[in-house]
Amino acid sequence: MTRHFLDVDDLSCDELEHVLALSAAPAGPPDPLLAGRAVALVFEKPSARTRSSSELAVLALGGHPVYVQGAEVGIDVRETAEDVARTLACYHAAICARVLDHRTLLRMADALDDAAGRPWPGPDDGIGIRTIPVVNLLSDQAHPCQALADLLTLRQLFGELGGRTLAYVGDANNTWRSLAKAAAMVGMHLRTASPEGYGPDTEDLAVVSRLGAEVEVTDDPLVAAAGADAIYTDVWTSMGQEQEADVRRAAFAGFTVDERLLAAAAPGAVVLHCLPAHRGEEITAEVFEGPSSAVWRQAANRTHAMRGLLSWVLRDQGRSEGGPR
Ligand code: CP
Ligand code: NVA
Repeated sequence: MTRHFLDVDDLSCDELEHVLALSAAPAGPPDPLLAGRAVALVFEKPSARTRSSSELAVLALGGHPVYVQGAEVGIDVRETAEDVARTLACYHAAICARVLDHRTLLRMADALDDAAGRPWPGPDDGIGIRTIPVVNLLSDQAHPCQALADLLTLRQLFGELGGRTLAYVGDANNTWRSLAKAAAMVGMHLRTASPEGYGPDTEDLAVVSRLGAEVEVTDDPLVAAAGADAIYTDVWTSMGQEQEADVRRAAFAGFTVDERLLAAAAPGAVVLHCLPAHRGEEITAEVFEGPSSAVWRQAANRTHAMRGLLSWVLRDQGRSEGGPR
């Protein structure tokens, strides 16, 4: 059965380690894994890092990336999400998509799984829909490819991550959800500081708990940052929430990652941000540009993490031990 990657916990812990190992391997000459094949990169929202890193990862595997704008294919406007997925599956080795609504990814994955079990007219010659993996390049719910790059970055900086403390200051959003799951799966301690109404919900906390970490939730950024090995933040207003920007700016006042928070963290602590950053809101310019900021290493690692993920999704899945938890 083809496995999709809609959030980090679609992988088992062993599989996550396998993907990280593939991501950490030096990028040598192109691996012919995707030779003669293409990968669809569908974007319903803007992107700087995800588009470039995904295109480069496909190229590194010998394939051809095809950038598809959401407005061009018109998901649920020009045709249904299911028909978009089935169409792209006639041509591509995988569909990687950044969507407005997470349910679009679920519908695409279901449509392809369903297609695999159906008899279609004609010989079994590979012409028609092939069941291919769907990869989440960010939805309103999750940002798992970012979380892979975040773990890769933390591993490069700290080595073994078990027992290290990750403090997240800000909105418990898509980035938080995938990061929290990923961090739990490698044994990190997690603290989250958010204003009232913007913290993790009980369902999210239960999922992270099942993955092995109890999140310490607070509304005091200093409490979260105290002694932490890494402080992570993301924008206060995510794509699609622009009409809430003023309300959010007011709600998140006092949740800026600044020198005071960094001084409370462990010696040698680093600051992470998935980007794009808004200096003066979720992070000060001093911290963002300062010596503890690992944000460009993080951004660069998006390509390596994507190369590792695509290698696993397209070649190694089924070879690593254990299924999803
Ligand atoms: N971090 C991230 O996903 O960046 P983009 O939105 O620019 O792709
Ligand atoms: N939470 C942000 C992440 C951007 C990479 C958003 O969804 O806009």
